Amino acid sequence: MGLALIAMFADQAGEMQIRGLDTDTQFLGSFAAGTGIGGFAHVHFQLAAAGAPETAVGLLGPLQQQHVIALVEAIEQRGDFVGQCHRPEFPVPDAGCRMENSIVTTPQNVSMAGLVLRAGKMHMKTYDVAVIGGDGTGPEVTREALKVSEAAAGKFGFKLNWHPYDFGGEHYLKTNEVLPDGAVDELRKFKAIFLGAVGHPKVKPGILEKGILLRLRFELEQYINLRPVKLYRAADCPLKDKGPEHIDFVVVRENNEGLYAGAGGFQYHGTPHEVAIQESVNTRYGVERCLKYAFELARKRRDGKPWKGLKAEDVKAGKTAQLTLCGKTNVLTYAFDLWWRAFNELAPKYPKVKTDYAHVDATVMWFVKNPEWFDVIVTDNMFGDIITDLAAMIQGGLGVAAGGNINPEGASMFEPMGGSAPKYTGQNVINPIAAINAAGMMLDFLGEAKAGAAIDSAVVKIINTKIKSLAAGKMGYGTREVGDLIAAAI
Ligand code: IPM
Ligand code: MN
Repeated sequence: MGLALIAMFADQAGEMQIRGLDTDTQFLGSFAAGTGIGGFAHVHFQLAAAGAPETAVGLLGPLQQQHVIALVEAIEQRGDFVGQCHRPEFPVPDAGCRMENSIVTTPQNVSMAGLVLRAGKMHMKTYDVAVIGGDGTGPEVTREALKVSEAAAGKFGFKLNWHPYDFGGEHYLKTNEVLPDGAVDELRKFKAIFLGAVGHPKVKPGILEKGILLRLRFELEQYINLRPVKLYRAADCPLKDKGPEHIDFVVVRENNEGLYAGAGGFQYHGTPHEVAIQESVNTRYGVERCLKYAFELARKRRDGKPWKGLKAEDVKAGKTAQLTLCGKTNVLTYAFDLWWRAFNELAPKYPKVKTDYAHVDATVMWFVKNPEWFDVIVTDNMFGDIITDLAAMIQGGLGVAAGGNINPEGASMFEPMGGSAPKYTGQNVINPIAAINAAGMMLDFLGEAKAGAAIDSAVVKIINTKIKSLAAGKMGYGTREVGDLIAAAI
């Protein structure tokens, strides 16, 4: 189909202009009119090159309501328009137009003061997301994460379809099964899964963690556990003299192997001679794919702008990022020898990434003393588990720490790092920001980078202007109210 595009923009006098142009470029587009401030409507456009992962989102405006209505009327009046046009009512969370055929075909010199809206086949981009609220405070924080995601979807013109699953402690106590047959394969169909928390006081520790969280991580091959560590406000950091400028790094934890793979066993179980062996599994394939992900992330982080922790000579040599391998090469001489060799063999493929190594014990020491020394850290499953809890504390606690279990080609799962916090359940006191941050990571993963960034900015804003403390019960607001504030700030 030869596509017709129309450009819509407000000229200097504030008049609405609609012009057409032809293009062969394949664009999928959608547009949504959202409420703006002071009676203005902002029209958001989203253009995504078909088949390309990047999504460009633009903001046209501020346009007055009449402009949006004028556009709708202009579209309706065209004889060659076939389809439905929804007239937005104000205020509207996400109204817009859906058009099935081209409406403007005249090539014009279009001033690109505005953005281009495809008038061919248009539909809103839609994402299906599985939601496991889980146990304890999991459902409460999940509710706020979905609320904020909806606000971002409204603003950036896409749609989220939530598919709830009731897996967790209650389900297990009722049915005696942790995950029903077929659940993993059903979840595999989703590109994203949102998980609130697992862990129930009436269920023996390990059953739900292994049966849900670890099982999904392994069976869905979520081989990366991604944990951004970002301090939003100096007051929330327990370290002396450290502020947001010092703490902004990412930990890439291998998520499918190591000591968590379940290799080992008992001998002479329950006797005085008992032997318990737990082996760390490190495959070349597993280690290498994790390292590759970390190198790529380091290369792309901050859009390739140099990380401020680099020395002048590194910048001169063309480096823009640093990747630290965190291991224990002096003692774990098999496992980390493999990591070390794979790391150094990959490094030449990423000339812009400066490589660095730190033993795990030194890493945690520096998290406290010099967290500004880190940009991207890559490590194995167990070290990653441990160091990210310390990292969570220096970024302000579990109330804000989020993680993604990533399979870059498959179903990925996003979760707040804190557990189910049974003692706070149902009291509207738990901090939902970690879950909201996890939702931001999820939208970014789905290709809605602007939406993810908007959630991050809204969180920064609300923490700095409203939230008293990040601890449960001390925020100065309830769980729901924090969600409302962040949603409104999107
Ligand atoms: C985490 C958790 C899990 C882990 C537990 C609950 C199995 O601590 O996500 O870090 O150890 O990976
Ligand atoms: Mn952990």
